[in-house]
Amino acid sequence: MKRYDVIIVGAGIAGLYAAMHLPESMKVLVVCKDIPWECNTFYAQGGIVTALNEADIPHHIEDTLAAGAYHNVREAVEILSRESLELREDLLRRGMPFDRSETGELLYTKEAAHSASRILHAGGDATGRYMHYFMMTRNPHLLQRNTLVYDLLIENGRCYGVRAMVNYRPTTLYADHVLIASGGIGSLYAYNTNSRTVSADIHGICVEKGITLADMEFMQFHPTVFVKTPFARKLLLTEALRGEGAYIVDEDGKRFLFDYDPRGELASRDIVSRAIFDYKRKTGKEVYLDFSMFEEEWFHRRFPNITKTFEAIGYHLPKDRVPISPAFHYANGGIVCDTYGRIPGMKGLYVAGEAARTGVHGANRLASNSLLEAAIYARRAVEAILGSPIHDGPVPRFEKDYDTQLHKEHDKSYKHQLRQIMWKDVGIIRTEAGLHEAKNFIYDTKNREIGRLLELRLNTAAAIVEAALARKEPLGSHYIESEES
Ligand code: SIN
Repeated sequence: MKRYDVIIVGAGIAGLYAAMHLPESMKVLVVCKDIPWECNTFYAQGGIVTALNEADIPHHIEDTLAAGAYHNVREAVEILSRESLELREDLLRRGMPFDRSETGELLYTKEAAHSASRILHAGGDATGRYMHYFMMTRNPHLLQRNTLVYDLLIENGRCYGVRAMVNYRPTTLYADHVLIASGGIGSLYAYNTNSRTVSADIHGICVEKGITLADMEFMQFHPTVFVKTPFARKLLLTEALRGEGAYIVDEDGKRFLFDYDPRGELASRDIVSRAIFDYKRKTGKEVYLDFSMFEEEWFHRRFPNITKTFEAIGYHLPKDRVPISPAFHYANGGIVCDTYGRIPGMKGLYVAGEAARTGVHGANRLASNSLLEAAIYARRAVEAILGSPIHDGPVPRFEKDYDTQLHKEHDKSYKHQLRQIMWKDVGIIRTEAGLHEAKNFIYDTKNREIGRLLELRLNTAAAIVEAALARKEPLGSHYIESEES
């Protein structure tokens, strides 16, 4: 029987930063579904927030609360901001190569709804990729790829490990502690900026096991995404572009966002996403991100990744403007935990990163708080793991298995339909009728001949729809239109 001290499910920033803090003397296994860089961390562009200094902490807290429509858990936000200074020192001490000026000063950028330029970045617009590589090279523990977790081994309020397909073979992995760091739910939406591996499986297992998900109605849509590609993951145009001065315009060059919010391009991303969606719907006009105000050499240095990616599909930046649409970006809600990643009522099971609902983000996440939250709360989960008593009781046998039933014949078509329905009816602007339509599809499909992985997706989709139906008034990223409007 394979038994570990800790299994970490996910190899993005939350999983890797946790692994970096677990002593080498422990038997730790980090698993990821596919290749390790297929995770949302890898695709993060803009940066990671840290409070600039002690004096900035109250401002960062206030910006986070205001963006979150004050639905946040204040204590979780305070921890986030206070501990950000220590995190920055830790990353720098370990050698994380954040961008610096010619004189060696750290460079900070601004993004929407921040009252200060306080976002660190790396490789210009490749912060996630740099952080991921940095953490991969500092992880002292075994990282196993091609490991698709499809069950948590839970009995009487304790988690004993996971069941997973390891290189397509069903395998039982036991552990004293399991840390869920599996990310969000991107694959549920037709248009999304997420890695293709992020498909809500573990959330779905939690629903099945009676583990609470919260704030699931607060799905975040990023306003500036190029969606006209055939690939599932759509191309993000970082918010840092607007932070540096890019405009959102219609096809006639009008900056229409000021009709919606006096902050224009720098309003929080729920407001900007909704405004774009509404403007397109009302006028039928195309909407663009316009970079023409930038000097070419500066732009190529500051946004090298975006320059190259768009060059490859025929756009010459900053000269050309790019058509944009909002797309699903981030799950503000998730698996409920305390400020140490502990899951209430469950021993040996923890959660960190986008999968977790710490309460930091409230109804809408402040830009670039996600990498910060993942790192801070992953380290705190490690503290909880190291401080918890050793379990030396017997380990039950887990007989039930689904290995031959992970996929069934028609799953692909149902998944496609689910993604379309989630985008249409559980997207940026919702109605009660649309939510009921989505709910009917979900429960109808659950009753069909489907594989386990689709069942798990549907569990998570149901949690989102139920939460959206339960919240009758708009708040943050949940916008429900009354039937008359
Ligand atoms: C971006 O670069 O716009 C994304 C940053 C984030 O999701 O916070």
